[in-house]
Parts: sequence; structure tokens; C-alpha cells
Amino acid sequence: MTATDPSTDAQEPRNHAEPVPLPQRRRSTTAPAHQLDELDIPAADLVQFMMDAVPDFMALHAAVTLGIFEFLANDELTSDELANACEADPDAMRRLMRWLHSRDFVATYRTRYQLTELGQVLTAAARPSMRHAVLVTGSSYWWEATGNLTETVRRGHPTWSGRGLSPYGYLAQNTELGAEFDRFMDARSAALGQDLAAFDDFAKARTVADLGGGLGGVLAAILQAHPHLRGILADREDVLARAHDRLAHNGLASRVQLAPGDLFDTIPDGAQIYLLSSVCHNYSDEQVAGLFTMVADAMVRVGEGAELWIAEGMLPRLPGARSRWYSTDIRMLALFPGDGVRVSDDYYRLTRQAGLRVRKSSPLPCGQALMIARLADQ
Ligand SMILES: C[S@@+](CC[C@H](N)C(=O)[O-])C[C@H]1O[C@@H](n2cnc3c(N)ncnc32)[C@H](O)[C@@H]1O
Repeated sequence: MTATDPSTDAQEPRNHAEPVPLPQRRRSTTAPAHQLDELDIPAADLVQFMMDAVPDFMALHAAVTLGIFEFLANDELTSDELANACEADPDAMRRLMRWLHSRDFVATYRTRYQLTELGQVLTAAARPSMRHAVLVTGSSYWWEATGNLTETVRRGHPTWSGRGLSPYGYLAQNTELGAEFDRFMDARSAALGQDLAAFDDFAKARTVADLGGGLGGVLAAILQAHPHLRGILADREDVLARAHDRLAHNGLASRVQLAPGDLFDTIPDGAQIYLLSSVCHNYSDEQVAGLFTMVADAMVRVGEGAELWIAEGMLPRLPGARSRWYSTDIRMLALFPGDGVRVSDDYYRLTRQAGLRVRKSSPLPCGQALMIARLADQ
């Protein structure tokens, strides 16, 4: 038995009256100073704040679902007038409105409520609008999946899937929520579209294929910035049925070929740039390596210079460093049986497995990162 063996009585007795010091909460040097855990808040208050976020978010979801932000976008209204317009209980509406007021979503002028700058971001007309993100995140499928996280962690895969359907299966059958999800993705794609369009790597390409491109917001930004390009938009059939109108509205319908179907069945031929944006985090390593291999095969058919562009949120390589992508990863854990949000090293590994070589890796102003890969022998 050595002097350092924890089971020995030979150690100096510990004075139990003195509390053992807890590790200090760390201060990240990379996170923005406004992050909650960077503020000097007692640990218990920080946990309380996180718990309060649950009813707070559901209050916001109720306000969006009832249409409060849309009504106030058109007019200043009293709480009773809002209750009447939303067909809601007047007393409950008063409590919801005082919560919205306390959180700065609305201001008051005499007895009437009006939208603040913060409230306006919840209207459908805002650019970008957070309305669709709130409606999807608070929908029963998303909410129940997240609520089942304990069981998901026990079993290692999502335990809630509404009526046995995966999220995309559910969205295909529930067209209203499906359309809302597409608008949610579209709203958040604007910043990514701008960031990608700013790259000068498009000069030599003639066609860009956006695989899992949703309503085509990212592709539209690229095509608008590079008039010599044509596009291929590949996604599930129900999504592309909605994408046509969106592209036509932007005057791009004639420059974009729609390729409906499952990406795991077929990758469209004929693009010099294949983009996969926020698709891989829905799938397992095995599936992603398979998808990359299918894209690599299409790149072989295209010939010299074809590229795969991967745009994803990535976790920091330094464990414990602050990043909003950890929350996205937990959401993915609740919803999809895949491997979730990855670190960049994972994408180096998965592209290598598919016979590809990363030639460029770059963080983007929108917070995602871009990796550009070519066939390994080129
Ligand atoms: C998280 S959204 C990202 C949308 C868009 N790429 C963006 O960055 O905003 C994932 C998209 O990929 C599509 N998708 C996922 N799996 C797919 C599959 N197996 N086949 C076809 N489309 C798929 C979904 O329908 C959805 O539009």
C-alpha cells in the first residue's frame, strides 16, 4: 500500500467542516461576452434561467401560433381586442401579453400594444423571419422528441417518432408543418447563401447542384450573384413541389432543374459543384460516407475539377469550448438516429473514406463552416 492509495488511513485526515472547493466555472476566451455563462451569475441562477427558458419558449410559441405578431404588425390593439381577434380567453391573453411586454416583444401606448423591433422578427414579413423556426421547434413532433431525451440517451436513438415516422417522413405527411419547416430552413439559408456566393471559385463552374437544397434559397443566392451558372435543386418530392413557386418568384425557374427523390437512391449528373448544406448532420457516419461516395461517383462522371462543397455547423475541436452547435447537436440527438453535429476532423475522415481530398476549409461569417473536396487523385 502506498502513501497515495486513497484507501489508506495513513493520509492526513480531512477536515469535513471545510467544504471541498468546486472547480471554478471557466471563462472562455473565445465566446462572445454576452453569453449567459460569461456573466457573473451565481450557478443556481444560471440553472433557474435555463429552466425558465422552457415556459418562456412555449409562451413565444403560443403567441406566434395565435397570430399575435401578425395582428400587431397591422394595428395597435388592446389585450381584449387581441383576445377577440385570436379567439382566445381575455384573462389568459392579458397574462400572455404582460409576459410579452416584460420580454420586450411588445411595448404599450396607453392601453394598446405595439410591436417592438424584437417582436417584428417574429412576423412572416421579417427578413429573416424567426416565425417559422418557432412554429417548427414548438410543434408537437419536435417538442415531444425533445421531451423524450432521457429515454433517447438511455437507448442511444430517438424514442419518439410520431406514428413511427422519421422527422422527414412526418413532414411529408403533415404538409402544413412540412411547408413551415421549408420556410424555417429558407429563412436561415439567406446568410449562408450570401457567404457562399461571395466565393470566387464559381468562375470555372457551369452548374451547381444543391443536394437537399430545400426551397432553393442558398442556390438562388449563388445563381443571382453568378449569372453564368445554372442550378440543379435536389430534394424530397414534396419539398420540390413547393420550391418551384419560390424559384419562379425570383425569376430563376428557367435556370434551375428540379431533381426530386431520395439522395440515397440517386445523385443527379452534370454539376461541377455539388453542395451539401446542413444535410450530413441528419445522418450516421456510415450513411454520410455512402452519400459522399455516391457524389464522388457523379464527380468522376463529370471529370476534371468537379467538387463537393460541404457547409455545416461544426463543433469546436477543443472539448468544452463554447459553441451554439452543441444545442443543435442535442436537437439532432432527440430527432434523428444519426451521428449529429461533427467536428471538422470527422469530415476529413469521411471524405477520405469516399476517395475525396479536402482542398479548402473555411469558417463562414454565418457561423457555419465550408469544406471543399475534390477527387483524391486530382
Ligand atoms: C436541414 S435541411 C437544410 C436545407 C438547406 N440545404 C439549407 O442549408 O438551408 C435538410 C434538407 O435536406 C433534405 N433531405 C434530407 N435527407 C434527404 C434525402 N435522403 N433525400 C432528399 N432530400 C433530403 C430535407 O428535405 C431538407 O430540405
